[in-house]
Amino acid sequence: MEWLQCIACGTKYDALQIRYTCECGNLLSVERDTRLDRDAFDDRLTSRSAIDRSGVWRFREAVLHTDKVVTHPEGATRLYERNGLFFKHEGENPTGSFKDRGMTVAVTQAVRVGATAVACASTGNTSASLAAYAAQAGLKAVVFVPAGKVASGKLAQTLAYGATVLSIRGDFDAAMRLVREASERLGIYLVNSINPFRIEGQKTIIWELLQDLRWESPDWIVVPAGNLGNTSAFGKAIREARAHGWIEKTPRLASIQAEGANPFFRSWNEAFATRHRVAAETVASAIRIGDPVSYEKAVTAIRETDGVVEQVTDAEILAAKREIDMMGIGCEPASAATLAGVHKLRAAGVIREGERVVCILTGHILKDPEANYRPENIHEIEATVDAVESVIVASPLGR
Ligand code: F0G
Repeated sequence: MEWLQCIACGTKYDALQIRYTCECGNLLSVERDTRLDRDAFDDRLTSRSAIDRSGVWRFREAVLHTDKVVTHPEGATRLYERNGLFFKHEGENPTGSFKDRGMTVAVTQAVRVGATAVACASTGNTSASLAAYAAQAGLKAVVFVPAGKVASGKLAQTLAYGATVLSIRGDFDAAMRLVREASERLGIYLVNSINPFRIEGQKTIIWELLQDLRWESPDWIVVPAGNLGNTSAFGKAIREARAHGWIEKTPRLASIQAEGANPFFRSWNEAFATRHRVAAETVASAIRIGDPVSYEKAVTAIRETDGVVEQVTDAEILAAKREIDMMGIGCEPASAATLAGVHKLRAAGVIREGERVVCILTGHILKDPEANYRPENIHEIEATVDAVESVIVASPLGR
């Protein structure tokens, strides 16, 4: 069984209490005292039951103890090897992003505590995921998004699943502050990654990856960093995998931020002496975040894994996205920050020749259709073979 525990003062709370922070104001984490063997998780890989097939609930003893889960199922995403790198594609989740891993757990917990309405602030993926799981569970979903700043694929999904969309005149950070206050005042269950049950689900990205690699740790795990939920979840996943004896070596985390949305990078540069906040701007709308809520947990994650934080420009993000797209994999811009970061860290000699590196691709290529549009590749022609030939001769591969 699990409980909630403050990451700073250690105060414990019942797991069924609705609270996101400690009385002392710090973040909470879900803790448990069971020691688990990884063999049971491997045995479930060949099971036909939905709960075992879920890449989240396959690890249920280390995620959340309950017999009533709201599952799609999610996870079970693929690991690709291309150009000497690994890519774990979390865009292959049911709603096209890694958020489903956290949301299946948060919405399951919402049902457990008797919530009837759920809310989040979002740059688009959390809202799409919440909308889908709330629809499945029969809960009312209210999402707070920065007006005009959400990629069209994400907004369309959120609306299609029936969520109420509050388009906030302000940025993501303003929407985040508002949803915290509004959900407290109006008694709505909050499922942003400040909710520790989200983190429990997102840990399974790492565990499934380790399972994909037969429990042999890679040297590096590279992740885009916005609100810092994933960086925090990855740190906890690695800490627990070591504590349970599932892996021997600690992989190093590399969190990559966009240069225009780089508060975590700024803090890292000062050995985390100061917590920075910025007004965020980047083409990677998913990580256009200036005041990440999971800051303290993410600092611990970087410290414990001997990790690094890097920043990349929008031009580097878009070039890396094109590279990933042209591998036939594809991803949304924020996800490509990983590969851009790998290029930069290799050039600086931080990631060394021969090291095993896994990039976590967080969102699907269709999430942000505008970022994919390459009008120079569209040739409107008459319906004649001559016209076809003239285009093909001019650009043999259509690239
Ligand atoms: N990549 C994608 C595709 C995302 O949607 C997000 C966050 C991140 C990376 C950053 O992850 O916040 O855990 O550091 N999206 C949130 C949302 C903020 O509302 O969909 P993080």
